Amino acid sequence: MNPLLSIENIDKYYGTKNNITKALSHVSFVVEEGDFLGIMGASGSGKTTLLNAIATINPVSAGHIYLGDKDITDLKKDELADFRMNNLGFVFQELNLLDNFTLEENIGLALALRGVAPKEINMLVQKAAGMLGIGDLLKKFPAEVSGGQRQRCACARAIINHPKLILADEPTGALDSRSAQMLLECFTDLNQTLKATILMVTHDVFTASYCSRILFLRDGKIFNEIRKGDKTRRMFFQEILDVVTLMGGDVSNAK
Ligand SMILES: Nc1ncnc2c1ncn2[C@@H]1O[C@H](COP(=O)(O)OP(=O)(O)OP(=O)(O)O)[C@@H](O)[C@H]1O
Ligand SMILES: [Mg+2]
Repeated sequence: MNPLLSIENIDKYYGTKNNITKALSHVSFVVEEGDFLGIMGASGSGKTTLLNAIATINPVSAGHIYLGDKDITDLKKDELADFRMNNLGFVFQELNLLDNFTLEENIGLALALRGVAPKEINMLVQKAAGMLGIGDLLKKFPAEVSGGQRQRCACARAIINHPKLILADEPTGALDSRSAQMLLECFTDLNQTLKATILMVTHDVFTASYCSRILFLRDGKIFNEIRKGDKTRRMFFQEILDVVTLMGGDVSNAK
């Protein structure tokens, strides 16, 4: 069987000739269906660039990304929106909530755009918001809730249509430990019960310890990879911490 996602030798450059940044260099890996993959690395190591390339938001300079058999670096402009809506759920580092929409409207937007019936949307919004503990804030606007509540809203929006692939960039960044744990348990639940495949960027070792596998990026290249296997979360936490220490501690201190 083909892996869900194959990243084949991608490069990403920003800028022009005289002012060029090589953000990703010969990055290759595969993600199997049901993986919960963490991506760690210091600030500027290329994590967001990698996630946005997979999200088809930011084109690669070289290489290919396959979702199943489909080369998504090859999608035409008019195919992109449909592709994202049908396959992906994102939580961006900048949350991208719409200020003039309530949390409820923000969470349900993709479904409304697809023409799902309002009753059905309402039920799914309630369910996702409930899982993330923001069920009683749905009539509020983003500016009327806290940063962590906005973050949970962005996560609810990402999971609402049970996407095949969830891409999350620092989803626990603004959360206190209880809310972070709630979100991580929600991701774990989606991963285990719905077999959602998750790619999550994080600086935080505790957050990373929920993953089944971690890739470490350094200067745009894969530096190391570890798997949880049969280890307990506590043992995996220690192992992640050891790699972070080996990398000079600049993964978790980068924030
Ligand atoms: N739009 C852009 N134009 C030019 N350079 C960019 C752009 N976006 C990112 N870069 C550069 O590419 C490199 C990788 O950036 P990226 O945002 O992927 O890092 P990151 O690992 O997500 O960092 P952080 O942990 O701070 O979010 C950095 O050197 C960054 O300065
Ligand atoms: Mg980033």
